[in-house]
Amino acid sequence: MSIRLTVQDSDGTILSLEGTEGESLMSVIRDAGAEGLLAMCGGCCSCATCHVVVTGGPVDALAPPSVDEQDLLAGLSNATPASRLSCQVPLSPSLDGLCVTVMAEE
Ligand code: FES
Repeated sequence: MSIRLTVQDSDGTILSLEGTEGESLMSVIRDAGAEGLLAMCGGCCSCATCHVVVTGGPVDALAPPSVDEQDLLAGLSNATPASRLSCQVPLSPSLDGLCVTVMAEE
C-alpha cells in the first residue's frame, strides 16, 4: 500500500508524493527533488538539514522524536513544536495523508 503525502517545499510548491512502508519521510521528499531539503548526512540524525514541520493529517500517528532528534531540533532557530527531522520518520500506513512543510536551513 502506498502512503500518500502532501509536501510543501521551501519554494512554496505543493507536491503530492507517495511512499512505501518502512521508507523514511526524508527519502521520499529528497527523491522527489523538493527544494530546501538537503539531508546532508544521508539520514543518520546528525545534520538537521531534513527539517520539516508537520502541518496536518494523522499527526497523532507519529511516534515521538528520540532524544537525539530532540537535541538536534533544539539547535534550530526555526523549529516549532510540530518540527521533525524527516529522516527519523519511518512511513507506515497509519501516516497516510500526512502533510508537511520543508523548512530550509537558515
Ligand atoms: S538527513 Fe541528516 S538529520 Fe536527517
